[in-house]
Amino acid sequence: MDSSSRNLILIVDDTPTNLEVLSEALTDAGFEIAVATNGENAIKQIEYEAPDLILLDVMMPGIDGFETCYRLKSNPKTKDIPVIFITALTDTADQVKGFSLGAVDYISKPFQQAEVVVRIQTHMQMQKMRSALEVQNIRLKQEIQERTAAEASLQKLTQHLEKRVEERTQQLSQSLEKLQQTQVKLVQGEKSATLGQLVAGIAHEINNPVNFIHANLHHANEYVQSLLELVKLYQTQFPDSTPEIKRKLEEVDLEFLIEDMPKVLSSMVVGSERICNVIKSLRTFSRHDEAQIKVVDLHEGIDSALIILDHRLKPKLKHQAIQVIKQYGKLPPVDCFAGKINQVFMNVLSNAIDALSEVVDAEHNYILSPTIRIQTEVVGSDRVAIRIADNGSGITKEVQERVFEPFFTTKAPGKGTGLGMSISRQIVTEHKGSLYCISSPGKGTEFVIEIPIRQPMLSNCEQLATVSTLEQFV
Ligand SMILES: Nc1ncnc2c1ncn2[C@@H]1O[C@H](COP(=O)(O)OP(=O)(O)O)[C@@H](O)[C@H]1O
Ligand SMILES: [Mg+2]
Repeated sequence: MDSSSRNLILIVDDTPTNLEVLSEALTDAGFEIAVATNGENAIKQIEYEAPDLILLDVMMPGIDGFETCYRLKSNPKTKDIPVIFITALTDTADQVKGFSLGAVDYISKPFQQAEVVVRIQTHMQMQKMRSALEVQNIRLKQEIQERTAAEASLQKLTQHLEKRVEERTQQLSQSLEKLQQTQVKLVQGEKSATLGQLVAGIAHEINNPVNFIHANLHHANEYVQSLLELVKLYQTQFPDSTPEIKRKLEEVDLEFLIEDMPKVLSSMVVGSERICNVIKSLRTFSRHDEAQIKVVDLHEGIDSALIILDHRLKPKLKHQAIQVIKQYGKLPPVDCFAGKINQVFMNVLSNAIDALSEVVDAEHNYILSPTIRIQTEVVGSDRVAIRIADNGSGITKEVQERVFEPFFTTKAPGKGTGLGMSISRQIVTEHKGSLYCISSPGKGTEFVIEIPIRQPMLSNCEQLATVSTLEQFV
């Protein structure tokens, strides 16, 4: 039961009359009353059941009111119960003593009943407010504690969440990168496989007939020479031929024919040789049949790419002929997936040609003598470097950072796929090499392909197989 609603008052007095009068007055005012006739009894009683207020007589046999008050205030259980002294003493020193012991008020005898009731009511109310405040205070403190704890756990949760989001973001961007790489690989794989098959198929189909033509041109030349000699012989042996033969001779313009025929034939020889070269380059370039690492001459690969790109090096409406300066060093045969490495040469060279085909450079000047310089050299003891430089418009810092990103292109839609450099980097990385670019706007661009001379997986047996692969192109 809540003691505050009981309004229990303990009256401690050794004078029965006082006890009676006070009890009556306070009971009438609606308070519950308990009584004690001396200090010691009062303390015992209070410990048994705490009242809401104590009216304490000062002068009592045994321990007096001051001592009783002192003991009550020294006990944590009873120290908060308000004490009002009832005293006949009017001495100020005693009043001060009472207050200093922790009393809330004092009533002097003889007392006015009404005054006593009002004072007690006031103190009871104050006490109730005090305890209500205390309860509220405790609740507030608890609330603050709870909030602090909640805040701390919220902060912890936020931190945890932030970490999770960061991790997830990282995971997602890694997956995206992987996905893009897979996509590039797929595109690359599919493209080069199809293209390789197509090129190899065409090259194979054209190879034989062109070889017939090329081989037979030699015989054709001999036969024609013989026939012409025969005609000449007829002319000397039978100078007076028939009118019909004379007419025919004039019609065919024999003199011109004799003079022009060798030229026609030799240009046919040159043409067929060119076709043979292109076919050889296409086959070297595609090497679609090679799923394994082989030992190859990288210069052959570069040359085959150049032959395939030859038509783009010729003078065009928008640019002069692109000059190719080869500064080949002495390279040892290099282990690689030849078809793939050739693809890298092709991609880098195509970009250089694209850059040189632009009408103007960064300073809006015409690129006067468009040039591609290809240097090769051995670096260190175990790597080779192929540097392909152009004197085109160069690449800005911002673009340089993105050149190797899949699908990044600065070219017009339909012109660029943005895959060339990312595929190339992937291929070079597969070879444990590096592909990077050195460029500044207006100063041209240099791409450097560095790959190890030896790939760890290559066995002797495979190296031997390479020789025969190379031979089949000769
Ligand atoms: N030699 C170069 N000169 C200037 N810019 C280049 C050169 N090579 C590559 N780039 C830049 O790198 C981008 C990406 O090249 P690439 O991956 O081959 O894609 P694409 O050629 O289809 O645009 C090009 O769009 C171009 O901006
Ligand atoms: Mg490209």
